[in-house]
Amino acid sequence: MMNHWKERSKNWALMGPPKRPTEGVIRQIRDLVGDHGQVLVLGVTPGLVGAFTNVLAVDREPEMIARVHLGDTDTKHAELMDWFSITGENRFDAIVGDGSLNMVNWPYGAKILMDRLFKLLTPGGRLACRVFTCPDQPVMLEDLIEIAKRPPAMGFNAWRSKLSHFLAQEMGPNVPVREMLRAFNYHWPNRDVLAAASGWDQSDISMIMDAYANSDLWTSFPTRRQWMDCVPDAAINAEIIPTAGYELCEEFPILTFTKEL
Ligand SMILES: C[S@@+](CC[C@H](N)C(=O)[O-])C[C@H]1O[C@@H](n2cnc3c(N)ncnc32)[C@H](O)[C@@H]1O
Repeated sequence: MMNHWKERSKNWALMGPPKRPTEGVIRQIRDLVGDHGQVLVLGVTPGLVGAFTNVLAVDREPEMIARVHLGDTDTKHAELMDWFSITGENRFDAIVGDGSLNMVNWPYGAKILMDRLFKLLTPGGRLACRVFTCPDQPVMLEDLIEIAKRPPAMGFNAWRSKLSHFLAQEMGPNVPVREMLRAFNYHWPNRDVLAAASGWDQSDISMIMDAYANSDLWTSFPTRRQWMDCVPDAAINAEIIPTAGYELCEEFPILTFTKEL
Protein backbone atom coordinates (compact mmCIF):
# COMPACT_ATOMS: atom_id res chain seq x y z
CA MET A 1 0.00 0.00 0.00
CA MET A 2 1.36 3.39 -0.99
CA ASN A 3 1.83 6.14 1.57
CA HIS A 4 -0.40 8.97 0.41
CA TRP A 5 1.57 11.93 1.77
CA LYS A 6 4.88 10.58 0.48
CA GLU A 7 3.39 10.68 -3.04
CA ARG A 8 1.65 14.04 -2.48
CA SER A 9 4.92 15.66 -1.36
CA LYS A 10 6.21 15.11 -4.92
CA ASN A 11 3.44 17.12 -6.60
CA TRP A 12 2.69 19.60 -3.83
CA ALA A 13 2.55 22.57 -6.22
CA LEU A 14 -0.63 21.19 -7.83
CA MET A 15 -2.51 21.34 -4.54
CA GLY A 16 -4.20 24.74 -4.65
CA PRO A 17 -7.07 26.20 -2.61
CA PRO A 18 -9.42 25.09 -1.24
CA LYS A 19 -7.19 22.11 -0.38
CA ARG A 20 -4.36 24.42 0.68
CA PRO A 21 -4.83 27.55 2.81
CA THR A 22 -4.75 31.00 1.20
CA GLU A 23 -2.75 33.86 2.76
CA GLY A 24 -6.06 35.23 4.05
CA VAL A 25 -6.79 31.98 5.89
CA ILE A 26 -3.29 31.94 7.40
CA ARG A 27 -3.76 35.54 8.65
CA GLN A 28 -7.17 34.67 10.05
CA ILE A 29 -5.77 31.70 12.00
CA ARG A 30 -2.84 33.77 13.29
CA ASP A 31 -5.19 36.59 14.36
CA LEU A 32 -7.43 34.10 16.17
CA VAL A 33 -4.68 32.53 18.29
CA GLY A 34 -2.10 35.36 18.37
CA ASP A 35 1.65 34.96 17.93
CA HIS A 36 2.85 34.47 21.47
CA GLY A 37 4.43 31.56 23.29
CA GLN A 38 4.90 28.13 21.78
CA VAL A 39 2.76 27.14 18.79
CA LEU A 40 2.07 23.56 17.70
CA VAL A 41 1.44 23.16 13.97
CA LEU A 42 -0.29 19.89 13.01
CA GLY A 43 1.62 19.05 9.84
CA VAL A 44 4.22 21.16 8.06
CA THR A 45 1.92 23.56 6.16
CA PRO A 46 4.48 26.21 5.13
CA GLY A 47 2.13 29.20 5.54
CA LEU A 48 1.37 28.22 9.14
CA VAL A 49 4.98 27.46 10.05
CA GLY A 50 5.92 30.84 8.53
CA ALA A 51 3.21 32.76 10.40
CA PHE A 52 4.45 32.20 13.96
CA THR A 53 7.67 32.86 15.84
CA ASN A 54 8.09 29.80 18.08
CA VAL A 55 6.91 26.68 16.30
CA LEU A 56 6.93 22.93 16.74
CA ALA A 57 5.59 21.38 13.52
CA VAL A 58 4.71 17.70 13.90
CA ASP A 59 4.22 15.33 10.96
CA ARG A 60 4.60 11.57 10.71
CA GLU A 61 5.67 11.55 7.04
CA PRO A 62 9.44 12.01 6.55
CA GLU A 63 9.06 13.03 2.89
CA MET A 64 6.66 15.85 3.83
CA ILE A 65 9.23 17.17 6.31
CA ALA A 66 12.02 16.76 3.74
CA ARG A 67 10.20 18.35 0.77
CA VAL A 68 7.47 20.66 2.10
CA HIS A 69 8.72 21.93 5.50
CA LEU A 70 10.21 25.45 5.28
CA GLY A 71 13.26 24.29 7.23
CA ASP A 72 14.27 24.49 10.87
CA THR A 73 15.49 27.74 12.43
CA ASP A 74 16.52 28.68 15.99
CA THR A 75 12.85 28.98 16.98
CA LYS A 76 11.09 26.62 14.57
CA HIS A 77 11.45 22.85 14.45
CA ALA A 78 9.78 20.00 12.66
CA GLU A 79 9.51 16.68 14.45
CA LEU A 80 8.68 13.29 12.95
CA MET A 81 5.89 11.98 15.12
CA ASP A 82 2.26 10.89 15.19
CA TRP A 83 -0.04 13.58 16.65
CA PHE A 84 -1.55 10.96 18.98
CA SER A 85 1.92 10.38 20.46
CA ILE A 86 2.59 13.99 21.51
CA THR A 87 2.81 13.70 25.27
CA GLY A 88 2.40 16.07 28.18
CA GLU A 89 0.00 18.79 29.31
CA ASN A 90 -0.07 22.59 29.19
CA ARG A 91 2.70 22.74 26.59
CA PHE A 92 1.36 24.95 23.78
CA ASP A 93 -0.17 28.42 23.82
CA ALA A 94 -1.74 27.77 20.44
CA ILE A 95 -2.43 24.76 18.22
CA VAL A 96 -3.11 25.30 14.53
CA GLY A 97 -3.60 23.19 11.43
CA ASP A 98 -5.10 23.10 7.98
CA GLY A 99 -7.26 20.07 7.23
CA SER A 100 -5.30 18.22 9.91
CA LEU A 101 -8.33 17.07 11.89
CA ASN A 102 -9.76 15.59 8.66
CA MET A 103 -6.83 13.18 8.57
CA VAL A 104 -8.34 11.03 11.33
CA ASN A 105 -11.65 9.20 11.21
CA TRP A 106 -14.82 10.68 12.63
CA PRO A 107 -16.01 10.38 15.35
CA TYR A 108 -13.55 8.58 17.64
CA GLY A 109 -10.30 9.57 15.94
CA ALA A 110 -11.43 13.19 15.97
CA LYS A 111 -12.70 13.07 19.57
CA ILE A 112 -9.57 11.37 20.93
CA LEU A 113 -7.26 13.70 19.00
CA MET A 114 -9.13 16.82 20.16
CA ASP A 115 -9.02 15.58 23.78
CA ARG A 116 -5.25 15.11 23.45
CA LEU A 117 -4.81 18.56 21.88
CA PHE A 118 -6.96 20.14 24.58
CA LYS A 119 -4.64 18.68 27.24
CA LEU A 120 -1.62 20.04 25.37
CA LEU A 121 -2.97 23.61 25.43
CA THR A 122 -1.84 25.90 28.22
CA PRO A 123 -4.66 27.50 30.28
CA GLY A 124 -5.95 30.37 28.12
CA GLY A 125 -4.49 28.69 25.01
CA ARG A 126 -6.51 28.39 21.81
CA LEU A 127 -6.83 25.86 19.00
CA ALA A 128 -7.74 27.08 15.49
CA CYS A 129 -7.79 24.57 12.64
CA ARG A 130 -9.37 24.96 9.23
CA VAL A 131 -11.66 21.96 8.75
CA PHE A 132 -13.08 20.43 5.60
CA THR A 133 -16.81 20.07 6.12
CA CYS A 134 -19.61 18.31 4.28
CA PRO A 135 -22.57 20.58 3.52
CA ASP A 136 -25.98 19.81 5.04
CA GLN A 137 -27.76 20.39 1.74
CA PRO A 138 -27.56 17.53 -0.79
CA VAL A 139 -24.63 17.47 -3.23
CA MET A 140 -25.97 16.09 -6.51
CA LEU A 141 -23.99 14.02 -8.98
CA GLU A 142 -25.86 15.87 -11.75
CA ASP A 143 -24.34 19.17 -10.53
CA LEU A 144 -20.83 17.70 -10.66
CA ILE A 145 -21.50 16.44 -14.18
CA GLU A 146 -22.82 19.84 -15.26
CA ILE A 147 -19.86 21.76 -13.76
CA ALA A 148 -17.39 19.46 -15.54
CA LYS A 149 -19.08 20.03 -18.88
CA ARG A 150 -17.93 23.55 -19.56
CA PRO A 151 -15.15 25.96 -18.53
CA PRO A 152 -14.41 27.89 -16.44
CA ALA A 153 -17.04 26.96 -13.88
CA MET A 154 -14.72 25.85 -11.08
CA GLY A 155 -11.09 24.85 -10.47
CA PHE A 156 -10.31 21.13 -10.35
CA ASN A 157 -9.32 21.20 -6.65
CA ALA A 158 -12.70 22.71 -5.69
CA TRP A 159 -14.56 20.31 -7.97
CA ARG A 160 -12.88 17.22 -6.49
CA SER A 161 -13.77 18.56 -3.02
CA LYS A 162 -17.41 18.58 -4.13
CA LEU A 163 -16.93 15.00 -5.31
CA SER A 164 -15.73 14.14 -1.77
CA HIS A 165 -18.86 15.78 -0.35
CA PHE A 166 -21.03 13.72 -2.68
CA LEU A 167 -19.29 10.54 -1.52
CA ALA A 168 -19.46 11.53 2.16
CA GLN A 169 -23.21 11.94 1.79
CA GLU A 170 -23.43 8.51 0.10
CA MET A 171 -21.06 6.63 2.42
CA GLY A 172 -20.80 8.58 5.67
CA PRO A 173 -18.12 11.08 6.75
CA ASN A 174 -15.08 8.76 6.41
CA VAL A 175 -14.08 8.37 2.77
CA PRO A 176 -11.13 6.20 1.61
CA VAL A 177 -9.41 8.23 -1.08
CA ARG A 178 -9.20 5.13 -3.32
CA GLU A 179 -13.00 5.27 -3.45
CA MET A 180 -12.70 8.85 -4.72
CA LEU A 181 -10.62 7.59 -7.64
CA ARG A 182 -13.03 4.73 -8.30
CA ALA A 183 -16.01 7.08 -8.37
CA PHE A 184 -14.11 9.50 -10.59
CA ASN A 185 -13.10 6.77 -13.07
CA TYR A 186 -16.61 5.31 -13.03
CA HIS A 187 -18.44 8.55 -13.79
CA TRP A 188 -15.76 10.23 -15.94
CA PRO A 189 -14.11 7.30 -17.76
CA ASN A 190 -12.70 9.41 -20.58
CA ARG A 191 -10.19 11.99 -19.36
CA ASP A 192 -9.62 13.39 -22.86
CA VAL A 193 -13.29 14.31 -23.06
CA LEU A 194 -13.34 15.68 -19.50
CA ALA A 195 -10.24 17.84 -20.00
CA ALA A 196 -11.46 19.19 -23.34
CA ALA A 197 -14.89 20.10 -21.93
CA SER A 198 -13.83 21.52 -18.56
CA GLY A 199 -10.59 23.22 -19.53
CA TRP A 200 -8.76 21.44 -16.69
CA ASP A 201 -5.25 20.31 -17.55
CA GLN A 202 -5.34 16.59 -18.19
CA SER A 203 -1.90 15.86 -16.78
CA ASP A 204 -2.79 17.79 -13.59
CA ILE A 205 -6.01 15.78 -13.28
CA SER A 206 -4.13 12.51 -13.68
CA MET A 207 -1.30 13.49 -11.33
CA ILE A 208 -3.76 14.49 -8.60
CA MET A 209 -6.26 11.63 -9.01
CA ASP A 210 -3.91 8.75 -9.79
CA ALA A 211 -1.99 9.45 -6.57
CA TYR A 212 -5.10 7.92 -4.96
CA ALA A 213 -4.71 4.59 -6.76
CA ASN A 214 -2.94 2.61 -4.05
CA SER A 215 -3.30 5.11 -1.23
CA ASP A 216 -3.94 3.98 2.32
CA LEU A 217 -5.51 7.34 3.26
CA TRP A 218 -8.99 7.94 4.58
CA THR A 219 -10.23 11.50 4.81
CA SER A 220 -13.21 12.54 6.90
CA PHE A 221 -15.81 15.12 5.84
CA PRO A 222 -18.04 15.67 8.88
CA THR A 223 -20.80 18.27 8.82
CA ARG A 224 -20.41 21.35 11.07
CA ARG A 225 -22.67 19.71 13.66
CA GLN A 226 -20.60 16.50 13.58
CA TRP A 227 -17.42 18.55 14.13
CA MET A 228 -18.91 20.34 17.11
CA ASP A 229 -19.88 16.95 18.62
CA CYS A 230 -16.15 16.15 18.92
CA VAL A 231 -15.11 19.28 20.84
CA PRO A 232 -14.02 18.39 24.41
CA ASP A 233 -16.70 19.18 27.03
CA ALA A 234 -14.27 21.29 29.05
CA ALA A 235 -13.44 23.59 26.11
CA ILE A 236 -14.87 27.10 26.08
CA ASN A 237 -15.68 29.51 23.23
CA ALA A 238 -16.01 26.62 20.77
CA GLU A 239 -17.23 27.80 17.39
CA ILE A 240 -16.96 27.36 13.67
CA ILE A 241 -15.89 30.55 11.91
CA PRO A 242 -16.33 31.11 8.15
CA THR A 243 -13.38 31.79 5.89
CA ALA A 244 -13.65 33.84 2.69
CA GLY A 245 -12.09 34.72 -0.63
CA TYR A 246 -11.58 31.41 -2.45
CA GLU A 247 -13.62 28.76 -4.22
CA LEU A 248 -15.92 26.70 -2.02
CA CYS A 249 -14.75 28.58 1.10
CA GLU A 250 -18.21 28.05 2.59
CA GLU A 251 -17.25 24.40 3.22
CA PHE A 252 -13.80 25.20 4.67
CA PRO A 253 -14.36 27.08 7.96
CA ILE A 254 -12.12 27.29 11.03
CA LEU A 255 -12.92 25.23 14.12
CA THR A 256 -11.70 26.92 17.27
CA PHE A 257 -11.89 26.44 21.03
CA THR A 258 -10.09 27.71 24.12
CA LYS A 259 -8.86 26.14 27.37
CA GLU A 260 -10.12 28.10 30.34
CA LEU A 261 -7.55 30.12 32.32
C1 LIG B 1 -1.91 18.90 7.65
S1 LIG B 1 -2.71 17.74 6.64
C2 LIG B 1 -3.43 18.61 5.25
C3 LIG B 1 -2.52 19.40 4.30
C4 LIG B 1 -2.84 20.86 4.35
N1 LIG B 1 -4.12 21.21 3.80
C5 LIG B 1 -1.73 21.77 3.85
O1 LIG B 1 -2.03 22.68 3.16
O2 LIG B 1 -0.58 21.60 4.20
C6 LIG B 1 -1.49 16.78 5.86
C7 LIG B 1 -0.34 16.28 6.71
O3 LIG B 1 -0.79 15.64 7.86
C8 LIG B 1 0.12 14.57 8.15
N2 LIG B 1 -0.57 13.64 9.06
C9 LIG B 1 -1.76 13.01 8.85
N3 LIG B 1 -2.09 12.30 9.92
C10 LIG B 1 -1.11 12.47 10.84
C11 LIG B 1 -0.89 11.99 12.17
N4 LIG B 1 -1.78 11.18 12.78
N5 LIG B 1 0.22 12.39 12.82
C12 LIG B 1 1.11 13.21 12.23
N6 LIG B 1 0.97 13.69 10.98
C13 LIG B 1 -0.13 13.33 10.30
C14 LIG B 1 0.45 14.00 6.80
O4 LIG B 1 1.68 13.26 6.83
C15 LIG B 1 0.53 15.27 5.94
O5 LIG B 1 1.83 15.77 5.86
